[in-house]
Amino acid sequence: MKKKVVSTLLAVAMLATVVTGCGSSDNKATENNDTVVETADTTTADTTIADTAADAAADTAAAAADATTTTEGGLADKTVGVCIYQFNDNFMTLFRTELENYLVSQGFSKDNIKIVDGANDQATQSNQIDNFITEGVDVLIINPVNSSSAETITDKVVGADVPLVYINREPSADEQKRWVDNNWDVTYVGCDARQSGTMQGELIVDLGLEKVDLNGDGKVQYVMVEGDPENVDAQYRTEFSVKALTDAGWEVECLVDQVGNWDQAQGEQIVANALAQYGNDVEVVFCNNDAMALGAYTAIQNAGRKVNENIYLTGVDALAEALQLVIEGNMTGTVLNDHFAQSHSAADAAIGFANGDTVEKYIGCDYKKVTNENAQEVLDQVK
Ligand code: BGC
Repeated sequence: MKKKVVSTLLAVAMLATVVTGCGSSDNKATENNDTVVETADTTTADTTIADTAADAAADTAAAAADATTTTEGGLADKTVGVCIYQFNDNFMTLFRTELENYLVSQGFSKDNIKIVDGANDQATQSNQIDNFITEGVDVLIINPVNSSSAETITDKVVGADVPLVYINREPSADEQKRWVDNNWDVTYVGCDARQSGTMQGELIVDLGLEKVDLNGDGKVQYVMVEGDPENVDAQYRTEFSVKALTDAGWEVECLVDQVGNWDQAQGEQIVANALAQYGNDVEVVFCNNDAMALGAYTAIQNAGRKVNENIYLTGVDALAEALQLVIEGNMTGTVLNDHFAQSHSAADAAIGFANGDTVEKYIGCDYKKVTNENAQEVLDQVK
């Protein structure tokens, strides 16, 4: 008897989490609408992708040749401190590796580039920033653990007269306004996650409602696996992927919306639970990034489902493993998050600051939709 009460309570609690998850996402969508300036223009994106992979490698080599001439008495003596929110993140690993290679190709000495792991802890990262300031680095590149700590970080770094390049986790509009108003040497480099969310949704819309509405009830039942809310990418990708469906006139129903913290194992767990609870009613699984989509794929396999036949799955980043799944038809699609363009822009901004140049306060880039059609091409570029 007692056991039954406990399990009923547990079931109710589980349901409550799930309902709250979907509900809170809707609320977030409303809040976000207030701050949305304009929806990313996805139509131009395909043609404006910055130089990825092969091009990037060529650029890096060409830049290395140039570096000797452009950096005389310059970059080889400059020091750069790089704070990464956590090393244990697939995408940020690609990002920091390319960042270091490109900085070296531009004339920095490898010994003068220090890259540290914030271990997903803001206190740890704040200490690392203090240490870099004490050491007297010439420029800082920071991927904040908590973007909400940006104001404190900026005050500290600007106060020490060190130029600052934020990457990957975009500080708030208010915070960015302070850089402009005070003309501080601070910038942000990143892509507009509204664009990647929209593209994720379009990957599904492009299939046609008839195909996606597997249970034929006239609406699309979906599961949303969100990244860490400290990165605005998670909120925007969640909101805009679903918006692409509703903009196409589709009715949607959120079955589960939970935070998987950009993490493969958490993505797998969330999707396994969702499939156990909702079974064949789950038609689409949206993951805010590919790491979580890889986990979702394992859960889908374990549940005996087949992507593109009786369930659809999308992610973001275009990790090599995810591209492989798209090629095999085991993921519906992904969106290229161009770590080459972003790391090069971040390095170029750091170099601009180090040389005393004027640097834009916001440096953007474009995402690119990846389907079965172009996945091999993208894989050849990124690997
Ligand atoms: C990427 C994620 C990554 C996160 C880290 C996002 O832009 O898509 O894969 O985990 O940044 O902040």
